[in-house]
Amino acid sequence: MSDPLVAAALAARARAYAPYSRFAVGAALRCEDGSLHAGCNVENAAYPEGSCAEAGAIAAMVLAAAGPSGRRIAELVVAGGGAAPCTPCGGCRQKIREFGRPDTLLRIVDERGAERLRLTLAELLPHSFGPDNLAGLS
Ligand code: THU
Repeated sequence: MSDPLVAAALAARARAYAPYSRFAVGAALRCEDGSLHAGCNVENAAYPEGSCAEAGAIAAMVLAAAGPSGRRIAELVVAGGGAAPCTPCGGCRQKIREFGRPDTLLRIVDERGAERLRLTLAELLPHSFGPDNLAGLS
């Protein structure tokens, strides 16, 4: 696999804990400082307590970040199966939005790493609400 982000997303997917849905997902992101972080979905017998692969990758990023560019997402790859591209859920779109830019690149690949969809964060989550909306409040 020549693309390190796709390779990291597939490796993360292989570690997914998804005994209930049997729908394994991996995510890997690259920050503006060049660092890479990955995550997998982690389900729970109390179903709503499960977490998505993207959320795991973001948590790893925030833990590792030494400065602002280490928590700014330049690119994110999601690896998942299914008939349709495994696009981030609504909650994860908002989580990505917190640390992304409008031109943050999102690539959705299948379980073999083949690209299914490529789009920007602004395309995935138009007219989004983010940190800037809270700026300048008195
Ligand atoms: N899931 C993710 O981890 N990321 C996505 O982008 C879509 C869905 C997980 C949540 C749950 O563990 C399983 O996939 C089925 O919804």
